[in-house]
Amino acid sequence: MPIDPAARRAGIMGVGFSVPEKVLTNRDLEKMVDTSDEWIRSRTGIAERRIAEKGTGTSDLGAEAARRALAQAGLKPEHVGLLIAATTTADMPLPSCACLIQEKIGAKNAAAFDLGAACAGYVYALVVAEQFVKNGVYKNVLVVGADLISSYIDWTDRSTCVLFGDGAGAAVVSEVKTGGILSSVLGSDGRYGDLLKICAGGSKRPASAETVREKGHYLQMSGSEVFKLAVRGMVDAVLRALAKAGVKKEEVACLIPHQANQRIIDAVAERLEFPKEKIFVNLQKYGNTSSASCAIALCEALEAGKIRKKDKVVLTTFGSGLVWGAMVMEW
Ligand code: ACO
Repeated sequence: MPIDPAARRAGIMGVGFSVPEKVLTNRDLEKMVDTSDEWIRSRTGIAERRIAEKGTGTSDLGAEAARRALAQAGLKPEHVGLLIAATTTADMPLPSCACLIQEKIGAKNAAAFDLGAACAGYVYALVVAEQFVKNGVYKNVLVVGADLISSYIDWTDRSTCVLFGDGAGAAVVSEVKTGGILSSVLGSDGRYGDLLKICAGGSKRPASAETVREKGHYLQMSGSEVFKLAVRGMVDAVLRALAKAGVKKEEVACLIPHQANQRIIDAVAERLEFPKEKIFVNLQKYGNTSSASCAIALCEALEAGKIRKKDKVVLTTFGSGLVWGAMVMEW
């Protein structure tokens, strides 16, 4: 049968998330580095974050989030045609995190691969899923945004260790008759790769006694530069995605931005002239969970009744690369 992409629409049929039980508060961090609850709250908005126990893999959190999303969508694991794991902190370099999740949940009919777009990975993966559903290749695509970034944090570096947490969020993308994903915008600018990076542990600088000594396996960030580019990237992506969808700002019921820093979110709201009450924020509880950030926030916004049927919802993410994206949906 000839495929007519214009005839199909894709939308999110179910979501779920999973975070570790262990809570690390700002007060706990005060005992580890030279920082204060007041500094962390006023500069970032974060009060606590979840940290996985040693021995936990990103795929463990991802699998739990995936099971919950499938249950909400009313699907069985064998109904999944494609599983995309958006992560930059897979359990190990090989096999992929997606294959580990596939095995854990029993999605035996799925193709599976990882997608690396750092903190922007969830929106990137939703866009990829949308293409496969729209062109008719797969009926149900399971997107998992999962990161266990605590494994890459230097817990003696106060400029980064207060910002991040572990978590996973998942979404089932399937065909919908109306609404669903209306538009998306993805962007990247590799010129800024040095601003947020993990230098060692890859093909160029494999792990060695030297890379460990130099702390090359930890995340390094130029905070204030990333801050400015995050605001610019997300504002631009949201405006372009709204224009593409033909949706006015005033029609949007809920904006879910990447949960990195309350001040970044406030600056995005200000530039967009968007009411703060319509922006969903949960970073106070989880910190920045990288590719899980928007995924978890979407779950909690739904649980909190912030999104109702037919509402227009906007997601926007930003991360290392630099990469960014935005998506407009009708729920
Ligand atoms: N506790 C106390 N003091 C601190 C801490 C801390 N945890 N961290 C830094 N400081 C100090 C600095 O040493 C500096 O001191 P100095 O003036 O004596 O040199 C001072 O606080 C100010 O530091 P700045 O870096 O200028 O502080 P800023 O207001 O820019 O806030 C922050 C830093 C929170 C990192 C901010 O720049 C930010 O949020 N940037 C964006 C980070 C981000 O979102 N990254 C992720 C996006 S992409 C992704 O998710 C992977």
